[in-house]
Amino acid sequence: MDVDRGARSLSLEDIDLAAVDDFWLLPLEVRDAGLATLRRERPIAHFDLPPFLGPSFPVAPDEKGFWAVTRYEDVVDASRRPEDFSSARGATSILDLPPMFLEYFGGMINADDPKHARLRRIVLRAFTPKRLAALETEVTRRANLIIDRLDGRANCDFMRDVASLLPLQIICDLMGIPADRYDYVLERTNVILGGADPEYVAPDQDLAAAVLTAGVELTALMTELGRERQAHPTEDVTSALVNAELDGERLSHDELASFFILLAVAGNETTRNAIGWGMKLLSDHPDQREAWQADFEGLAPTAVEEIVRWASPVIFMRRTTSRPCELGGQHFDAGEKLVLLYYSANRDETVFDQPERFDIRRSENRHVGFGGYGPHYCLGAHLARREITIMFRELFRRVPELEVGEPDRLRSNFINGIKHLPCTVGPLRA
Ligand code: HEM
Repeated sequence: MDVDRGARSLSLEDIDLAAVDDFWLLPLEVRDAGLATLRRERPIAHFDLPPFLGPSFPVAPDEKGFWAVTRYEDVVDASRRPEDFSSARGATSILDLPPMFLEYFGGMINADDPKHARLRRIVLRAFTPKRLAALETEVTRRANLIIDRLDGRANCDFMRDVASLLPLQIICDLMGIPADRYDYVLERTNVILGGADPEYVAPDQDLAAAVLTAGVELTALMTELGRERQAHPTEDVTSALVNAELDGERLSHDELASFFILLAVAGNETTRNAIGWGMKLLSDHPDQREAWQADFEGLAPTAVEEIVRWASPVIFMRRTTSRPCELGGQHFDAGEKLVLLYYSANRDETVFDQPERFDIRRSENRHVGFGGYGPHYCLGAHLARREITIMFRELFRRVPELEVGEPDRLRSNFINGIKHLPCTVGPLRA
């Protein structure tokens, strides 16, 4: 990280939320202060798109810039008004993507009702209470196997060796993806959500082509698995999806593929960052860690919400106005882009007392880390909460002295990610 930039604080005119390197990769305190300035002085601010985003993403000359929504109240209001603020033009990218991309990479996350409601009903049916109840034991077993593999090691990369493994294995298990394909899935979801980082897609590679290829390869896996599950259904989500029928209609092959990609990506690329940031926060705040270790079950519910609020692994979702409307005193014409910044809303000082403080006992914590309480509210929130809780419970129990160093952050304006996190393991208990 550039030391000069670290020393800098941003004036209102210097803040450019379209700039990944010159805003999103700044030291956290500089970027957080920039967002606080926006919330205070220009809470719904307009930004132009950068003129050039690389050879594979030429920005159409008439493509519009975007409005950044930084206050909590406006983020929640927009999330709850899908009739004004539509997801159908794309929720996960500021740039307009070709319709084929939207369908393929997201499906229901990039859809409005009635299509969204229909798809969500199908996938909700696949997450049956029986399947979810079985998870508790399975997540605990997996967390322990991951910790077992730290035996005899003085150091590790906490992201690679711990945080990324639990969400990966659990979502793959739920979907029936065999263990010898875990790495295959992780490599491809990393490209789909982290492709702007040179570690995942080299700068001289065509990013759009790399993302598309990763999607095609996940689809190939789904097709192979789906065929098998149609003939021999099991208890997994893929079996439920391939055999799902709603109003006499089956999911099409493309719908199945986009479900598969959405679940694999969303299940993987989010929770691991909550676990990574959580470990970093607990290493930086030994008093909080001690308190949680002393009363794990008592503090787990508030501690986990505080980790998700503070980490905000998903920085934003986009909406597009479907008709002229108003939000927070700002008028919009039809067809304008709004970027709902959960990361900023979760630091809104009018809602959270001392929002920059990490406080595992924070009780007033209706954060928007899982979305703004609208129809797209995170479908995996319950699963993510259980994974985070169980991972920390087992880490505290078995490697209570584990410490982490400085994060190597993901180059992204969408995922508040950590790629690597150096870690000293300490003694391992049985
Ligand atoms: C800490 C971990 C996680 C965070 C921070 C997170 C965050 C989010 C956010 C912000 C949204 C959009 C909400 C909106 O637009 O209102 C979302 C949607 C979604 N999430 Fe998560 N998520 C996490 C874990 C998971 C997991 C483990 C799964 C896997 C099952 C998952 C599956 C989904 C799906 C399928 C949607 C789309 C829902 C829809 O469009 O109706 N998420 N998530």
